Amino acid sequence: MAPHLLDPGFELTLRPMRYPQFYEMYRAAIRNTWTVEEIDFGIDVNDLRHKLAPADRHLVERLVAFFATGDSIVANNLVLNLYQHVNAPEARMYLSRQLFEEALHVQFYLTLLDAYIPDPARRAEAFAAVENIPSIQAKAAFCFRWMDSIRELQRLETPAQRRAFLLNLICFACCIEGLFFFAAFAYVWFLRSRGLLPGLAAGTNWVFRDESGHMAFAFEVIRTVRAEEPGLFDAGMEREVRAMLHEAVAVEAAFADDVLSGGPLQEGVLGLSPAEMRQYLQYVADLRLAALGLAPEFGARNPFPFLDLQDVQELTNFFERRVSAYQVGIGGEVAFEEAF
Ligand SMILES: [Fe+2]
Ligand SMILES: [Fe+2]
Repeated sequence: MAPHLLDPGFELTLRPMRYPQFYEMYRAAIRNTWTVEEIDFGIDVNDLRHKLAPADRHLVERLVAFFATGDSIVANNLVLNLYQHVNAPEARMYLSRQLFEEALHVQFYLTLLDAYIPDPARRAEAFAAVENIPSIQAKAAFCFRWMDSIRELQRLETPAQRRAFLLNLICFACCIEGLFFFAAFAYVWFLRSRGLLPGLAAGTNWVFRDESGHMAFAFEVIRTVRAEEPGLFDAGMEREVRAMLHEAVAVEAAFADDVLSGGPLQEGVLGLSPAEMRQYLQYVADLRLAALGLAPEFGARNPFPFLDLQDVQELTNFFERRVSAYQVGIGGEVAFEEAF
């Protein structure tokens, strides 16, 4: 019998390919290559100095402090946990590509923080947020607890071990990439809807597209494992997923209270309330449950009209980027380039 995706080992055989869908995801990701150098933070820096209210500035400070370490955490879990146990070479090709994208995100936020916070002492403070700012500390603690939950697992032999692995995978896809990061994107698009920080918005569009791909891969792994070993997905597992999402929403909502508090002046952010943010988090959590084939937990609707633009924005972005994407992705097709 052919091995299952979570069977221990290091499968090397690409033909016949067991999971061509992972290989196609890898190829699609390559076609979406972008670089940090394409992004200009010039207008952002001017906006920060002259256009942002103190409460907006506090929002941005908290946001970039989260971004400073968020993708590194995801990258570490990918290497230490996911790569080890997803046992198909074509799936590991995708994970290698994802690891590059996480490095790109780290580079993007590093460049962003360097541009946004010229003062070295304040910049160091932003990078140390995981240790100093309680609302960010709580998010990191949530991530590390789940990362550590399977650190000792060298092999997934038993159903209990495989469930522990799946919970880690679900946590990083649904709660960290799919909720913590999506909440962060919502703040960026809120600012974009007010015509602010176009450099951050441009990079966020590409990071959003990458993260959507990372989630799609994780959900495909889950779908595949479920088809191979339906018994793993029992009622206990569903309970744990729901409890995990509740906790993630609570942790992220506490971050929203801080982000939208207005900082020292306590004036709040005009046009975005913590209650709306909480509702958005619940709405997103339900989307993640639906992707897992589970019934909604919160029954919340999307409170943010400014997110309706997102799909259109993505499309425009894609067409704008075609040529550069081809240049990076398919070096051999020179004739196509010369037509322009
Ligand atoms: Fe990322
Ligand atoms: Fe990611």
